[in-house]
Amino acid sequence: MSDKVTVVAVDGPAASGKSTVSKLLAKKLGFNYVDSGAMYRAVTWQALEMGVDVTDPIAVIGMMHTIKISFEIRDGVARMLINGVDPGDAIREPRVAEKVSVIAAIPEVRQILVQHQRSLTKFGSLVMEGRDIGSVVFPDTPHKFYLDANPEVRVQRRQRDFAAMNIQTSAENVAQNLQARDKLDAGRATAPLQIAVGATVIENSRLSVEETVEVILGQIRRQPPRPDPLPWRGEGNPQP
Ligand code: CDP
Repeated sequence: MSDKVTVVAVDGPAASGKSTVSKLLAKKLGFNYVDSGAMYRAVTWQALEMGVDVTDPIAVIGMMHTIKISFEIRDGVARMLINGVDPGDAIREPRVAEKVSVIAAIPEVRQILVQHQRSLTKFGSLVMEGRDIGSVVFPDTPHKFYLDANPEVRVQRRQRDFAAMNIQTSAENVAQNLQARDKLDAGRATAPLQIAVGATVIENSRLSVEETVEVILGQIRRQPPRPDPLPWRGEGNPQP
């Protein structure tokens, strides 16, 4: 990996504003944008399409070894293709949201996707959002952020996303899914959702997207990238 590659890690619970903020941030920095959650969703979508029992880790791991994962960068956005196909907005469907955290808890699935996530620095500097980007995927980056927002705001934001995709769902269903996923994501044994060591926490319930991006940019400007980054290798947070 080139010394010049910079990684900005944006983690946080479901619907905390990570995607909108990370996309704008990447644009302002001229970096690629990577949605790691989209990768877990794409694998879940693939399992559902193939009729694989998502509650059976052996079956899911078996599927992982039969599919070909590749990436392309389109307009500064990394897209994951499975067997050459970009599933597009299908990964946002509620049926995928219901199962994704079960699949994301399987260590072997994580191992495969984390390797792919790290490999994306070959395309240059990036903003990557997810749950374990600052803690596991790129623990050595100095640019780590953890976004949070109160549960009501998160439900409203996710309902707006669904409305924009013409998907009808009640606030109650959305709230239930966000809660259930956060519980599974924070409670799992491998790479749980957590505030990474050294991360700046931004509670953005009352901040606009632009304001949140400005807070992050201000912090990045204050903390220039390390001149000699270590290779991304460790599981878990770096030791002090
Ligand atoms: O967009 P939203 O915040 O609802 O979730 P997402 O970023 O699309 O992630 C979907 C799911 O993928 C999460 O609920 C996690 O179960 C899983 N995920 C993960 O385990 N690790 C990541 N780095 C990113 C997502």
